[in-house]
Amino acid sequence: MSNLPSRVAEFQTDAGLEARFQGVIHHGVFAPRVHSTHSLSCSSNQDRQAPKLERDEVSPLTPPFEESVLMSAELTADHATGRRISARISAIAESATLAVDSKAKALKAAGRPVISFGAGEPDFPTPDYIVEAAIAAARNPKFHRYSPAAGLPELRAAIAVKTLRDSGYAVDPAQVVVTNGGKQAVYESFATLLDPGDEVIIPTPYWTTYPEAIRLAGGVPVEVFAGPAQNYLVTVDQLEAALTPRTKILLFVSPSNPTGAVYSPEQTREIGLWAASKGLWVLTDEIYEHLTYDGVPFTSIATAAPELGDRVVILNGVAKTYAMTGWRVGWMIAPLDVAKAATNMQSHATSNVANVSQMAALAAVQGPLDAVDTMKVAFDRRRKAMVAGLNAIEGVVCPTPHGAFYAYADVRALLGREVGGIRPATSAELAALILEKTEVAVVPGEAFGPSGYLRLSYALGDDDLATGVGRLAEFLGAAK
Ligand SMILES: Cc1ncc(COP(=O)(O)O)c(C=O)c1O
Repeated sequence: MSNLPSRVAEFQTDAGLEARFQGVIHHGVFAPRVHSTHSLSCSSNQDRQAPKLERDEVSPLTPPFEESVLMSAELTADHATGRRISARISAIAESATLAVDSKAKALKAAGRPVISFGAGEPDFPTPDYIVEAAIAAARNPKFHRYSPAAGLPELRAAIAVKTLRDSGYAVDPAQVVVTNGGKQAVYESFATLLDPGDEVIIPTPYWTTYPEAIRLAGGVPVEVFAGPAQNYLVTVDQLEAALTPRTKILLFVSPSNPTGAVYSPEQTREIGLWAASKGLWVLTDEIYEHLTYDGVPFTSIATAAPELGDRVVILNGVAKTYAMTGWRVGWMIAPLDVAKAATNMQSHATSNVANVSQMAALAAVQGPLDAVDTMKVAFDRRRKAMVAGLNAIEGVVCPTPHGAFYAYADVRALLGREVGGIRPATSAELAALILEKTEVAVVPGEAFGPSGYLRLSYALGDDDLATGVGRLAEFLGAAK
């Protein structure tokens, strides 16, 4: 590319800043070249020195000419205003769930008797045989080296086998990309599929990471809210109303974080058929597939609606099923072209996932499901205790969740009432008050969509759960 003729783009922004860029036109796109202080010049009242880059390079993520100029204009203006963090990254909010969890942990470490319903992780240790596999891998010099960016071949093959077993979906190992947790799979999937302005329909309440990952990829999250009256399950009519010519992806998450809602096989098929009829991609997050209760089955939309053809991306990981949140292994399963493109991206961003973790994940997915069955017995008991305890509080409505390990309580009736000496107007204010007055950590609905709700994880010990719900009952029960 460096042999291409150089071009110069000049323009003036609304703010009166003039900018001049030197770059190349490559396949119809303008790539600004920044290699010296004079290749990017900016004149304004607060003229500053342009950033000096070490190497002569062309941006690998080159946007179309017009956007490139606009983005650069913002950059130039930012230099003039002295902004240190890019607009794209400063627009990202801290993960509210991690923030609540770390605040609760910090208070606990300071000796406070905090009970946290904030955690998004099983409170069980990783099963021994998985830990042993990791120890053996750590001792094997073969795993001290870089490995293929898309994942260890034996793990990709085992994930393909496991996907057929659990989702009924036949995939080739080449379609599997092993990622640093399901979170990276979420990010890479959106980054691979979305162009600027493409819309993604997200059933709401949603897991807090989705909209941020969509925006980071240049997409637009379009929320479709389903409240407690419909058990937090969206309908096809609602999806249809959200459809526009820019809709590219439907996100489908069942069981759901944060609501614990699970779509029936019939609902899943109906939604899948609708998406197929509109030519949409479906990105389905199956990370809670093994955590369903009351005999409610998990249904993979990929299998329920084969009409989707090759427009399906499955996200999954070992975190929730095998109590392996800290090991950071997830994956995406996508059509070959998408998997290849995501692997290219990953090869530059993070390379391979830590081999020791991958070998632990291999033992997990090849092994039995005994550990998750044991956890499920405990989660089920706690789920019942929590839902009963919450519904016994006047002003709180909590539909029974059938999956994951979260209860999603509707507290709208409490807002505006006097509790703890003040009248919280939002669930964020209420959650802050609850933490302050009762030392119980809950995540407010604002992290997942509209205000008016609280998410409570029941992945904590039975005694702590009873104590925490008791404190909530005493505190919220006194609302006037
Ligand atoms: C719905 C959902 N998807 C994906 C993830 C990602 O999990 P991890 O990155 O720990 O594998 C989580 C974690 O909380 C989740 O709740």
